[in-house]
Amino acid sequence: MSETTLIRGGTVVTALRAWRADVLVVDHKIAAVEETIALPTGARLIDADGTFVMPGGIDPHTHMELPFMGTVSKDDFYTGTAAAASGGTTMIIDFVIPSPGESLMHALDVWRGRAAKAATDYSFHMAITWWSDLVRAEMGKVTAAGVNSFKHFMAYKGAIMVDDAVLVQSFMHARDLGAICTVHAEHGDLVVHLQNEMFARGITGPEGHPQSRPPEVEGEACNRALRIAQVVGVPLYVVHTSCSDAMDAIARAQSEGQCAFGESLIQHLVVNDSVYRDTNWDRAAHHVMSPPFRSPEHQAALWRGVQSGTISVIGTDHCVFDTAQKRAGISDFRAIPNGTGGVEDRMSVLWHHGVGTGRLTPSQFVALTSTNAARIFNCHPQKGTIAVGSDADIVLWDPCKTRTISAKTQQQKNDFNVFEGMTVKGNAALTMSRGRVVWSDDCLHTEAGWGRFVPRKPFADFAQSLALRHGLNAPTRVNRKGVSE
Ligand code: URP
Ligand code: ZN
Ligand code: ZN
Repeated sequence: MSETTLIRGGTVVTALRAWRADVLVVDHKIAAVEETIALPTGARLIDADGTFVMPGGIDPHTHMELPFMGTVSKDDFYTGTAAAASGGTTMIIDFVIPSPGESLMHALDVWRGRAAKAATDYSFHMAITWWSDLVRAEMGKVTAAGVNSFKHFMAYKGAIMVDDAVLVQSFMHARDLGAICTVHAEHGDLVVHLQNEMFARGITGPEGHPQSRPPEVEGEACNRALRIAQVVGVPLYVVHTSCSDAMDAIARAQSEGQCAFGESLIQHLVVNDSVYRDTNWDRAAHHVMSPPFRSPEHQAALWRGVQSGTISVIGTDHCVFDTAQKRAGISDFRAIPNGTGGVEDRMSVLWHHGVGTGRLTPSQFVALTSTNAARIFNCHPQKGTIAVGSDADIVLWDPCKTRTISAKTQQQKNDFNVFEGMTVKGNAALTMSRGRVVWSDDCLHTEAGWGRFVPRKPFADFAQSLALRHGLNAPTRVNRKGVSE
């Protein structure tokens, strides 16, 4: 028997416009969006008066239950997606990270197993951490399995870092497959050199982390990856852009017509590098992530990039470690597991500091938190919009609801929150995942395993991905034989 819900009286917001409309949900999909819809017999009514009815958020950068730096990130696919839902996010794209030497398909199977308990929908990026004929062949299998984005770590030398030769090979093959490449842009060799120099000078605490990862290290790698992508002719998405050095490189590439996208993290926008001067070791260590938090000047540049469109997506890189895990680096900052959290608070913090301050319109907010990610990673309009036929991933956003963020009350599974004590105005009143209410009245109604894998097709051709860059509708899909699909 089908289940029908009418969301009545809200202001629907998409990346393009905001207007007063009712939204009808039948089972897992949006069935109608009209000025007035009569309540169908037997339907449930949700009063949306005073709220914005927006597409659920998409966080395209998370690391749930990631084995990393000798430990495993604390949030798993259930706790992480449930925490996300409480903050209005209804889909994550997590990174499958094979160990060097490991089969990509094997790693994908491992991640599928972990993600089976997700409370909301999810998708995967695949990291290329080594190169061989097997990796090359498996990239094709991975895209056929619905993963159209490949990640490259230019840092973490001796672990998952790849060099320029691998970037070139992988970028070329991803291009031929119609996939998009992504990079963690930091010059890994320089980082190791600076880390060792700091340590030799007796700098062993968390303050050594930002000192060994200055903005130049990020800017150089970002520009290098962009130039390689430009020559190869593949779209490039730069994750966690944290400084003007990297942002300027992305802006230049875009101004030259390159298909390049920038992602910034909500943490980098509102938390600055003063956190590393905290004399409390635990608090400082909880901010150890790469790239590190930056000075207010870099933050101002990031906000300009967000407002101007150089930055297309705000993610979180959600990868949390608790105090005991961070203490692995008590006598050597190089051993502090890198990562911070934000999946639960991303949308409310961006609304408060973005829309609440007049920097962003509600439509820009929707674009940055949902629609752009869906378009760039090719799951739009199934995800990322309020439209007939789209999945009913919906958030009722109450612009007046306030909340003070604290590790004591968070859903995330950690004993720390980088936004601790911040009061944010604008929060999720109700979140719906494929037609099911998973958050309302400040309570979770999630179920482990409700989430489904969202397969994402490769792009038909480079022109199609380039069209995204200009906000155009994707042209008709033409397969490699030149036939419209
Ligand atoms: O410090 C970070 N960002 N940890 C997660 C792994 C990564 O680099 O994305
Ligand atoms: Zn990274
Ligand atoms: Zn990451």
